[in-house]
Amino acid sequence: MTKPARGSLLGIENLTPAEISAYLQLARKMNPQKPKPLLKGKRVFLLFYEASTRTRSSFEVAAKSMGAMTTLVLSSGSSIEKGESLLDTGYTLRAVGADVIVIRHPEAGAPLLMAQHLDIPVINAGDGMHEHPTQALLDAYTILKHKKTIKGLKIAIVGDIYHSRVARSAVYLLTKFGAHITLCGPPEFLPDLATTLAPGLQITRSVEEAVHGVDVIYVLRVQKERLGGQALSVNDYIARYQMNAARVRLAKKDAIVMHPGPVIRGMEFTWDVADCPQSVIVEEVRNGVPVRMGILAKALGKAK
Ligand code: NCD
Repeated sequence: MTKPARGSLLGIENLTPAEISAYLQLARKMNPQKPKPLLKGKRVFLLFYEASTRTRSSFEVAAKSMGAMTTLVLSSGSSIEKGESLLDTGYTLRAVGADVIVIRHPEAGAPLLMAQHLDIPVINAGDGMHEHPTQALLDAYTILKHKKTIKGLKIAIVGDIYHSRVARSAVYLLTKFGAHITLCGPPEFLPDLATTLAPGLQITRSVEEAVHGVDVIYVLRVQKERLGGQALSVNDYIARYQMNAARVRLAKKDAIVMHPGPVIRGMEFTWDVADCPQSVIVEEVRNGVPVRMGILAKALGKAK
């Protein structure tokens, strides 16, 4: 197998705890208010084949604030619509002068394929149902702003886990650091096989049981775009899995409530819980900027 280009960030699964800690350390050194021009003269290409608000805008702000030039290429309105292949699009962006490509793609493995064929770093901004490493890093960064260590934390991940790249990357990262994770959702969103994702994972179908006494409640959106026509009983889902105030109260008093966004109010959350004092959802988004500043600086060999 061809080795991916140096500096690429493709997933959490194959990173060591030391490598993950280095990314988090780097993020702590970044100051979005007073950024250093570490990326002056660099060209950052944002290649998005899927919708994005947070990931795309925070990568763009991170890159620009460090002096890089950014170019956004969306699948609609580009030659991708005309049928250009993934690799040909990559070669094109390289020829235009890309120094790094940040890519979001509906298929698992697309960023790896690109990183194996280009001589510039590729950053995975979410690939299908596979991984979303930068989200996992900003979530770990956020957890560590509230909790001393990840080791020993009790964490409930609730919702559509099967279709979620966020869940996969979070599970890889948090188990590497010794968190105790309980996954919770209906069988169609959480097959029994999910315990094989990482050692020590627990599964429960009862949300009350999942959140009981935990330090972190991590709620996921139902990935409707990945259901492939599978019917979903919304009322049943809401009754059994929606995070409401009574369920949050079952967690520890100082528990934090997380969600990668976008939040669909009235579905995975009641309106009040999305904004409850324990919610760190906006903070997660905010933390995306220094975390992605560090990731870009490292990819381009500019991290000290
Ligand atoms: C997530 C994604 O795209 O995987 N969003 C994000 O990047 N914060 C989660 C989602 O879409 O539900």
